Amino acid sequence: MSLSSGQLLFAERPSDPSPFPFVADHDNPLTALGAKYDPSKRWHNYLIYYWLHFRDIRLKVTRMLEIGVATGESIRMWEEFFPNAIIYGMDIDPKCGKYEGGRRKILIGDQGDISFLQRTAQEVGPFDIIIDDASHRVEHQLTTFNALFPHLTENGVYVIEDTGGCVGDFSLRTINTLKPIIDHIMYWPKDVQPSDWAKLTDFPAGTPWIDRNVIGISFYRWIVFVMRGKNPQGHPFLRLPPSHGQLTAT
Ligand SMILES: C[S@@+](CC[C@H](N)C(=O)[O-])C[C@H]1O[C@@H](n2cnc3c(N)ncnc32)[C@H](O)[C@@H]1O
Repeated sequence: MSLSSGQLLFAERPSDPSPFPFVADHDNPLTALGAKYDPSKRWHNYLIYYWLHFRDIRLKVTRMLEIGVATGESIRMWEEFFPNAIIYGMDIDPKCGKYEGGRRKILIGDQGDISFLQRTAQEVGPFDIIIDDASHRVEHQLTTFNALFPHLTENGVYVIEDTGGCVGDFSLRTINTLKPIIDHIMYWPKDVQPSDWAKLTDFPAGTPWIDRNVIGISFYRWIVFVMRGKNPQGHPFLRLPPSHGQLTAT
C-alpha cells in the first residue's frame, strides 16, 4: 500500500476495544501498588504509562511533586514506588494537610497562582518528576507547565494527566500547545550539514533554552509525558553502546 502525505497508516484497521495489550506488561509492580492504594489514576488506566516511563528510574528519583492530592492515595503509592524520594503533594484544599507523614510533604496552594508555584519550586525544587493532576483546566495545565517545567532536574519528567475531551477541551488546546515542542526537540542549527552530525556536540550561543533542554515528548490518550535532557549533548548518535567505543567530535 502506498501512502500519500497525511494519510494515516492504520486508518483501515479495526480499533481495539481497549489500549491493551501495550508495549509494557500490564502485570507489573506499579499496577500492584495501584491495587493496594487505589488512586484515581488507576481507574483511568494511566499506571501502565507510568510504569513504562518510571520503571527504570525508580531508585534514582529523590524528589517528586504531584499537584492534586485529593485523598492522598496517589502520593502514598509514589512513596512506596520511589523508596529514595521525598514526595511533595500540592493541593488547593487545606484539608489535604492531613496526608503529610513519612516521606510525604504537603504544600497548600493554587496551581493558578504562578508566584506561589515559582516560590515553592525555588524553596523545595528542583524535582525529578512533576505530575499535574489537579484542576484539569487548560489555563492551569499550560501556566503550571510554563512555570514549573524549568524547575525539573536535568533529566526530569513532566506529566499532565487528563487532557482533551475527558475534561471538556474538545479543541485539544493543551495538546496543540505542546505539539510544537516536537520542533524544538528536532532543532538543527542553520549552516550545519547533516554529515556533520558527529561534530554537533554543542549548539551555537543564543540557541533558545527550550531547544537545548527537551529531549522527548510522549502523547497518549489523555496523558502527556515531557522529558527534559540536554540537546545536542544527549542525542543518540553521540551515545553508542560501550562495546562500540565512545564517539568523539572530529
Ligand atoms: C483528581 S484529584 C487528584 C487525584 C490524585 N492525584 C490521585 O491520583 O488520586 C484533583 C485534586 O486537585 C485539587 N485542585 C483542584 N483545583 C486546584 C488548584 N487550582 N490548585 C491546586 N489543587 C487543585 C482538588 O482539591 C483535588 O484534590
